[in-house]
Amino acid sequence: MSSQTWWYTARAGGIVAWALASLAVVSGLQLSTRLVRKPAPNWVLDVHRFLGGLTVVFVGVHIVGLIGDQFVGFGPVEILVPFTSSYKPAAVALGIVGMYLLLAIEITSLLMRRIPRRTWHAVHLSAFVLFVVATVHGVLAGTDRHNALLQWAYLLVAALVLGMTLVRILAPRRARQSPARPAVRP
Ligand code: HEM
Repeated sequence: MSSQTWWYTARAGGIVAWALASLAVVSGLQLSTRLVRKPAPNWVLDVHRFLGGLTVVFVGVHIVGLIGDQFVGFGPVEILVPFTSSYKPAAVALGIVGMYLLLAIEITSLLMRRIPRRTWHAVHLSAFVLFVVATVHGVLAGTDRHNALLQWAYLLVAALVLGMTLVRILAPRRARQSPARPAVRP
């Protein structure tokens, strides 16, 4: 396989991994906010889990592409330890942090029944950090960051996640502050 093919594999793997992680965050927010349908149907949870697992697979594709490519010269150390790559060290470090967060979220989700729910939830909330870190990583490290379609995708998905997160934060408070009132005053 030529070096170009490895580079295309790394780039495509990164973009698909980011898209899947974004969809996982959006479907997770749909589960907690129930914005579209109340209550969210069971299959939304299955899709959410599937997207999380598939993200891990495509981060793997991204990394295999980077290791195969001769130009950046990534080995296990550059993949696992932040700031060790000579290629865009800070931007790449964000990708490495994202990878560790993703692994922590996936592993605690697989062990969900064996660990305290509070632990699982605390780790799961780091999905917001993962989304931010992975998006900034893609914007700063990516060859395709000048592609208009990808720029719009980053912008629109970030706006969607921000909007749904605000609903997630504000909705329970609103519910607490305005207890159900009878429609007609007695
Ligand atoms: C959650 C994990 C990760 C996600 C979602 C992710 C996503 C992305 C995305 C979307 C891009 C932009 C691709 C493009 O514009 O063509 C990218 C580029 C890049 N990523 Fe990651 N990444 C992750 C982890 C990593 C890790 C662990 C490394 C390795 C240390 C890494 C190294 C790179 C490099 C070197 C580039 C530049 C490739 C290029 O020029 O396109 N990433 N990544």
